Amino acid sequence: MPLLRLTSGRELHFIDEETVKANLQERGFENDTAFIQLGHSDLEPNQYEGGLKVWECTKILCDFIEDNAERFQGKSVLELGCGSALPAILSKEIGAEEVAAQDFNSSVIDCFTLDNVLANGLSKGSLKLMAASWVDLPGQLSNKSFDIVIASETIYNTSNYEAFHLAIDHSLKEDGVAWIVAKEFYFGLGGSAFVFLDFVKSKGIFKGEIIDPPRRGNDSEQGYAKVIIQLTRR
Ligand SMILES: C[S@@+](CC[C@H](N)C(=O)[O-])C[C@H]1O[C@@H](n2cnc3c(N)ncnc32)[C@H](O)[C@@H]1O
Repeated sequence: MPLLRLTSGRELHFIDEETVKANLQERGFENDTAFIQLGHSDLEPNQYEGGLKVWECTKILCDFIEDNAERFQGKSVLELGCGSALPAILSKEIGAEEVAAQDFNSSVIDCFTLDNVLANGLSKGSLKLMAASWVDLPGQLSNKSFDIVIASETIYNTSNYEAFHLAIDHSLKEDGVAWIVAKEFYFGLGGSAFVFLDFVKSKGIFKGEIIDPPRRGNDSEQGYAKVIIQLTRR
């Protein structure tokens, strides 16, 4: 089974693409965009948003969670745009009291996320898993709010910023904190860490800042630097 090895050496498991494909077929998702796109394209905006892959920022978010484990103990945590949900799973492993994870597609939740929860030795009900768009999430959560909101690679598309910001605003407690890990720039859909921070500033609800130096990787690595964005209420 594939695994994500964190800097500490801790291993988080996720099911392989063949198992995901078999799950999608067996569980009634043969006609789902996620199944059709699997292996062809990273995402199809507003239909399949890439949740069946483990994206690069996941490791940075998981390292951050491990390094700050004491801040998660006994807390309630929500992962937005979870896909694999490895950060949510890790949060539970290191002592978060209550953990929820949301993905856009029910095919992702039912055929990837849930299996990853089990693959890491957690029970089916140990995380609350939700399929919802960010527009619909406030309705699903009702008045529930969390101490901590986490997300990896969710700000690549500027047209989702309003809904993503609203989902955080609705789900984060007054004294809560959100950590979003993202690339500095994305190709294609206009998103970037800086454009997102400008958007946050324009709304006036959260103080947004990049914490820690950007991860630029070594010379052999391609791609843009990755940053950890922290949001706290103003
Ligand atoms: C690029 S994937 C990242 C998945 C995972 N967090 C990772 O880093 O491996 C983007 C995720 O954002 C979520 N997403 C994107 N647009 C969304 C929207 N409009 N409503 C809800 N979720 C959305 C999807 O659930 C998808 O899993």
